Amino acid sequence: MAHLFNRNVLLGVSGGIAAYKSAELVRQLQERGARVRVVMTRGAQEFITPLTLQALSGQPVHTELLDAEAEMGMGHIELARWADLLLLAPATADLLARLVVGRADDLLTTVALATPAPVLIAPAMNQQMWQDPATTANVQTLVERGYHMVGPAAGEQACGDVGPGRMEEPAVIAAAAGALFESGLLAGKRVVITAGPTREALDPVRYLSNNSSGKMGYALARAAAEAGAVTTLVSGPVDLEHPAHVTVVDVESAQDMLDACLAHTAGCDIFIACAAVADYRPKAMADDKIKKDADTLSIELVKNPDILATVAAADNPPFTVGFAAETSNVLDYARGKLERKGLDMIIANDVSNRDIGFNSDQNAVTILTPRGELPLAQAGKDTIARQIIEHIAAALESTA
Ligand code: CTP
Repeated sequence: MAHLFNRNVLLGVSGGIAAYKSAELVRQLQERGARVRVVMTRGAQEFITPLTLQALSGQPVHTELLDAEAEMGMGHIELARWADLLLLAPATADLLARLVVGRADDLLTTVALATPAPVLIAPAMNQQMWQDPATTANVQTLVERGYHMVGPAAGEQACGDVGPGRMEEPAVIAAAAGALFESGLLAGKRVVITAGPTREALDPVRYLSNNSSGKMGYALARAAAEAGAVTTLVSGPVDLEHPAHVTVVDVESAQDMLDACLAHTAGCDIFIACAAVADYRPKAMADDKIKKDADTLSIELVKNPDILATVAAADNPPFTVGFAAETSNVLDYARGKLERKGLDMIIANDVSNRDIGFNSDQNAVTILTPRGELPLAQAGKDTIARQIIEHIAAALESTA
């Protein structure tokens, strides 16, 4: 099922009898993981109340272009930028015509002009109106401009006519919205990703660890699944929801993580090591809780296996990607790791900058391969993850 996890969908409802189906559409979009906001035309409000859609979306419904109060909340330009997708459902014949001529005389058409996001249109109208040459020409113009269409369906209409023009069912529209984001770049590929910290037990109740949030690895797993890959996430202990359509293998220690990775990377196409693996573990775990009898306590540590280097050194290894979190000489250290560990790609980031990396929702990285380097500007981890996945897919293609 094509999902909309972490996608902002702006649902534009115009005035047709199918507007009552928008309520179900909001739910269907949310079930696929989307955050939904609703814009309604004046006509739409004759068929369904803003309150209904507000209650379902959990957000105020936007109706007015020239409303000082609404503009103070989320103005029309902000709404247009917020959207990852503008979904017009139902889209009346009048709305299609207004889009064609670029009108901006209400909030919905203004947002449609102002958004850089893709637009998906679910037309709904009487069959005669749908088949009118004016509508046919308008639809053709919109398709040529890159707008996406879903439906209309054919059948019995509210007015008693039979023919094409009925709005597609909400489930079909939500699926079409999801499919727009499924790149298929990694269709049929198997991807294994490590994420989060590891915990190295000292005694039954204590451990050594670090404060990796796992957010970047989870974003990569979502992006890989979205690109059509069969995705396995080997995750240390984190406080994050399991991503949809991803198999999650929960582990604790570096040794557990290595075992899980070796079990899952055999025959896989891509391995991405994003976990902050503890470099050392206590030489022995105490069977009982350590008592504070002594004034000082020394713990002997031994080095943990390097999971990334182990997978990279396997017979017939997958395309192997590492991460290098550095505080100085970022690119030099990262290139050193790329070569030393025999990787195909390494993602370097500067963790001395508190705004990005560990625990932040933002990141800014440089992708290094044996052939060159490419900086990616600071963005949300989901955006960075999608870009990384695109570059991995391109690199894989060029080595095929
Ligand atoms: N990694 C791993 N297994 C380990 C240690 C690291 O798989 N035992 C992976 C990480 O997931 C990351 C990369 O290796 O992809 C980080 O490389 P590493 O050299 O371990 O980084 P640091 O621990 O920061 O090393 P250094 O102290 O040498 O900078």
